Amino acid sequence: MISGRFLIVLAIAAAGAATAQDDNVLVVEGAQLVTETRAPAHIEHVGTIYSGWRFRSGETQVLQTDDFENPAMIFVDQAMDLWDKVDGEAGKACASCHENVAQFAGLRTRLPRVKNGELVTMENLINACRTGRMKAVPWKWSEGKMTAMTALIGLQSRGMPINVAIDGPAASFWEKGREIYYTPVGQLQMACANCHEDNYGLMIRADHLSQGQSNGFPTYRLKNAKLNSIHGRFRGCMKNIRAIPYKEGSDEFKALELYLASRGQGLSVETPSVRN
Ligand code: HEC
Ligand code: HEC
Repeated sequence: MISGRFLIVLAIAAAGAATAQDDNVLVVEGAQLVTETRAPAHIEHVGTIYSGWRFRSGETQVLQTDDFENPAMIFVDQAMDLWDKVDGEAGKACASCHENVAQFAGLRTRLPRVKNGELVTMENLINACRTGRMKAVPWKWSEGKMTAMTALIGLQSRGMPINVAIDGPAASFWEKGREIYYTPVGQLQMACANCHEDNYGLMIRADHLSQGQSNGFPTYRLKNAKLNSIHGRFRGCMKNIRAIPYKEGSDEFKALELYLASRGQGLSVETPSVRN
């Protein structure tokens, strides 16, 4: 197990000469997005924050600049069909109650947030309508219908700055997320911070390490050719360091999601983004 960690450290060290993120400008459908800005005051060890888009290759980057090229848009189209589809015992569709999905502009920038003492994510809000108001079965956290709908609703906020609340009732959740971010776990005894704070900009094996920002989620990954939820990505990173991941939708991942969003305060929502 020591040697596993050693190998990763070596892989990082060997790539020590690698360059930092590029300085490309992200323009999507004619509008410029913020992919670099000053770190918010509550982030200790980083002066500037960067979107993960800045660390991708030119071929991957360009896919996100044009909605006809963006492979995630197929799923957004599927979500528009789901929006109008009656489901569940109450005989309702999303469209029966919500006039237009555009009414959700800005929502993605403020999530997760505290509601009735609980930390809720986009997935929670959607499923609350499905179970409570439609009498339909909840969607699973990372199933295709859920990631398609979170992409459609998130897209309404594209270009708007991430702006989650971390004080008041959110403070204890934020603290918990922060602790998870900095706690070494798994056989390799690594924390999120070891890669995404200490070593961003370097190469890890064949991958250009970013700050692990969440502003692009759900994200279309070329690797698995589908939309990926934020919690799905957390699981993947935890598995890579040979830790037992928390469950999608768990209190731990929701707290981590809030903390991570707060590290990206001011970056534009890129939903749905494209990554490798
Ligand atoms: C029977 C009516 C009804 C149906 C059907 C319905 N909703 Fe809702 N939805 C509501 C109401 C009422 C609220 C609460 C609004 C509020 O709190 O301001 C809500 C809240 C939401 C929110 C949170 C908005 C916010 O600002 O916090 C989201 C997201 C949402 N609905 C998505 C959906 C989706 C997606 C569907 C279909 C899968 C759906 N809803 C189906 C009535 C409905
Ligand atoms: C061993 C190094 C390593 C550790 C530790 C690690 N990750 Fe990652 N992570 C990666 C790599 C490699 C990628 C893919 C390239 C990139 O975007 O950085 C990635 C990607 C991500 C992304 C996607 C970024 C984007 O723009 O799409 C997020 C979010 C993320 N990680 C969060 C986390 C969290 C939260 C933790 C702690 C639970 C964590 N990571 C731990 C290596 C790591």
